[in-house]
Amino acid sequence: MSVHSKTKRISIPDLMGYKGKKKIASLTAYIAPIARLLDESQDMILIGDSTAMVGYAMPNTLAITVDQMAAHAAAVVRATQRACILVDMPFGSYQESPEQAFRNAAHILAVSGAAGVKMEGGSALAATTRFLVDRGVPVLAHVGLMPQYVNTMGGFKAQGMSEEAAERIFQDALAHEKAGAFGLVLEGVAEELARRITDAVAIPTIGIGASPDCDGQILVTEDILGLSGDRIPKFAKPFGDAAGVIRHAAAQYAAEVREGQFPTLDHCFGVKKKS
Ligand code: KIV
Repeated sequence: MSVHSKTKRISIPDLMGYKGKKKIASLTAYIAPIARLLDESQDMILIGDSTAMVGYAMPNTLAITVDQMAAHAAAVVRATQRACILVDMPFGSYQESPEQAFRNAAHILAVSGAAGVKMEGGSALAATTRFLVDRGVPVLAHVGLMPQYVNTMGGFKAQGMSEEAAERIFQDALAHEKAGAFGLVLEGVAEELARRITDAVAIPTIGIGASPDCDGQILVTEDILGLSGDRIPKFAKPFGDAAGVIRHAAAQYAAEVREGQFPTLDHCFGVKKKS
């Protein structure tokens, strides 16, 4: 007997069809409870390698592994029914060769059930995009500020500020479109450049610190909920105070434990009811 979920998932062709018609709303999720809450409102959920920094308190995204990404992605897929689920290829899992990229992407998709992968990289990675797409792995290409290149960029800095740099990123975007990428994440790029790319390509652009004119937007969920510490990145905006809710509930719980108000016998097993 086959088991089908009642809700139809948004597919990659659906996302591509939104271009020019409907903005794509997208957030990251790494674990089931968050994914469950995002599913009804987001078109796309990304298991970002930002989990290295946000979820594991690492200084950058470089040390997260294929198996960690696959496990997080599997949790997010199990917890959702509607959103299209994409997974970041972690650093070192695709840059060596198209074959290495395919092996790791196929593993991540097989283990998780996600719809496709995101890869960071300029024109040099376009051949890898082509290799994956030709073998059934949908690719969302990520250009501009690429956190996995933190060491070559010398930090997390906005990109494309000079004419020459903007032209290079423009060509990167075109190269991935030509190679078959179904969409482009434009991160931390000059606003005018993001608009220029969005107008030039037939595939959706998803901005993060890019332009309101991108075909969609993506943010790290923790950044909009006050869960990323004190500093909100310039490109994000607080949409809620989950930190306040958690802090308050945890303090209330601790106070009740210390004062002997929790648990009561209602929270215990095998308690004989008084007649
Ligand atoms: O890792 C990540 O969260 C990303 C962003 C585009 C949100 O790549």
